[in-house]
Amino acid sequence: MSYFLSLFSYSFSTEQQTSLSFAVQDLYLERQTSETALQSAYQLAGASSFTTSSQNPRLSRALPVSLRTIISSSLSRATQNPHSNFKHHHTPLTMCKTALHGALHALPKCEHHLHIEGSLSPSLLFRLAALNNVPLPDSTLDPSFTSISALEERYLHFTSLNDFLHYYFIGMSVLLTAGDFESLAYEYFVRAHSDGVQHAEIFFDPQAHTHRGVPYKTVLEGLSAAQKRAEEEFGLTSKLILCFLRHMSETDADVAYQEAVSLGHFSNGTIAGIGLDSSEVGFPPEIFREVYAAAKEAGIKRTAHAGEEGDSSYIQKALDICHTERIDHGIRLVDDEVLLKRVAREKTLVTMCPLSNVRLRCVGKVADLPVRRFLDEGVRFSINSDDPAYFGGYILDNYCAVQEAFGLTLAEWKGIAEGAIEGSWCDESRKKALLSKVGEWAEKYEGVA
Ligand code: HPA
Ligand code: ZN
Repeated sequence: MSYFLSLFSYSFSTEQQTSLSFAVQDLYLERQTSETALQSAYQLAGASSFTTSSQNPRLSRALPVSLRTIISSSLSRATQNPHSNFKHHHTPLTMCKTALHGALHALPKCEHHLHIEGSLSPSLLFRLAALNNVPLPDSTLDPSFTSISALEERYLHFTSLNDFLHYYFIGMSVLLTAGDFESLAYEYFVRAHSDGVQHAEIFFDPQAHTHRGVPYKTVLEGLSAAQKRAEEEFGLTSKLILCFLRHMSETDADVAYQEAVSLGHFSNGTIAGIGLDSSEVGFPPEIFREVYAAAKEAGIKRTAHAGEEGDSSYIQKALDICHTERIDHGIRLVDDEVLLKRVAREKTLVTMCPLSNVRLRCVGKVADLPVRRFLDEGVRFSINSDDPAYFGGYILDNYCAVQEAFGLTLAEWKGIAEGAIEGSWCDESRKKALLSKVGEWAEKYEGVA
């Protein structure tokens, strides 16, 4: 049972939900008092006299004493914990204005396109830079690095994928220790859980870390620890996808691949599959054909970013030459009718990222994305957040943006959720459990406009 959802089901103002949710997220981050927090939340949920009065935006005077105490002590600990995000700006909780908002929030979701390094918020970036003594670019040369808010502002104006990647690679340079990676991933899981994610398949970029002296094992130690905690605490299952950087050579990709192979990380399930990301145009998938062939031979799952900025030939080559089982982004599929029908027929999952596509100017607005066309043609797709700390939204924000642009029906969302489960890389029993959650969701929300 979702703790966060139990909070949301009572009549709190949006502001109170936000304060409570983040305070509770910090309790989880502090790891100490989740049991107490849980108990108090249930008590709170049962308090019928709860009102919406909230002079202090963080702590409502109407909160029962027990929860208020827990939250205040969480706040004071959080302000001292360099890994906690509470002190600075949290992305506000999503609230779209559509009639389906509650249903969309509750919909059991799978996320398949999330770069964990892309969940590094400017506030955590600045804090880790200070903690780890990592110099950021000189703010006289790039004023975006003057402050957290200047960087947030800069993120609103990316002009292209490469413009974004410039900041993405600088940002991740502050991640040094296994603890940094664990905190980053755990914070993502907390947020994903509060958005209704049940299963997440997460990209990471090992070359971007090993090339600046952070060992592969350090990255994996942190990510794996966060995965374990998320599963134990929220029942949120997850998989890792090792991405090759396409602006680096195939030989370099192979080094990263071999390191994971030599540690048995593909065979023991630590990593579920491979992917391909970074600058697309000029770096077509076939450059990486050999490492993809080796992965196929070894029975390792494969995906690749294709058809984001690149044209539909990138999609076709990912499928035909790299034999990928999925396509990440894939929005240019609409330019090739034959390919589109084939992707639909073969039930290849396309992992769409609406807010990313707008921020990186692949489309002018969410309504320009081929969501309706994919639905009409039977293309299997999921909705994802890509780099949420850079693109202004987590997964529920992306669901809401799609709903605001396309006004889908409950039945259409059910179909999307089922397709996302079928296209996941979890085992059959997990798929069955997730499908039944979606079935229960559909019964509960039947009749909602
Ligand atoms: N595209 C390509 N590479 C990336 C992205 C993306 O959207 N995000 C992080 N690396
Ligand atoms: Zn991506």
